[in-house]
Amino acid sequence: MEPAQMTIDEANADDAEAVWRIRYSSEVNAFARTKEIPALSNHIQWFTKAYIGGGLNRCYVMRTAAEVIGYCRYDVDNDGSYVLSIALDPAYHGQGVGSRLLGETLAMMQKGAEIHAIVSRTNSGSQRLLSKYGFTERTRDDAWLHMTKAIPV
Ligand SMILES: CC(C)(COP(=O)(O)OP(=O)(O)OC[C@H]1O[C@@H](n2cnc3c(N)ncnc32)[C@H](O)[C@@H]1OP(=O)(O)O)[C@@H](O)C(=O)NCCC(=O)NCCS
Repeated sequence: MEPAQMTIDEANADDAEAVWRIRYSSEVNAFARTKEIPALSNHIQWFTKAYIGGGLNRCYVMRTAAEVIGYCRYDVDNDGSYVLSIALDPAYHGQGVGSRLLGETLAMMQKGAEIHAIVSRTNSGSQRLLSKYGFTERTRDDAWLHMTKAIPV
């Protein structure tokens, strides 16, 4: 299926399990800062509180006709900026889907919003994707790059 035939919209409560499945797939978890896998029931509770019901956090999902194949979360931080987390079902990596998901969801964020991403120094694919959409490196430590972008006003 071409990326153009997939749809992007805000997650609903029924999407919690698909997001858990993608986030904790071994390919995605390998690049994550927190690798411990929570019980699905705990994840569903957390997801519902974080994204469903009108708070400031945003979780967008990419859907085929059959299923959710990726998500892009923007979690509001203490200073009002957002922390980005994007991942796809490994079966869809490297086909332009992540590029479309990131580009279209950035366009939905409010003007002036500051977005942060913390990326493993070994995750060159993700660094390249973020750079393509205007993220620049702010700091780095032994393991992680901190990249930021401000949505134009
Ligand atoms: C990161 C991720 C969302 C990218 O989505 P994707 O659909 O695989 O990426 P795309 O096919 O849209 O490629 C986007 C760009 O990144 C580059 N890229 C993607 N994966 C790459 C890889 N493994 N190595 C090198 N470049 C890569 C592509 O070359 C492309 O750049 P180009 O258009 O200039 O060629 C996806 O691979 C993923 O879920 N990875 C695991 C989770 C993760 O690392 N999340 C990021 C944490 S911030």
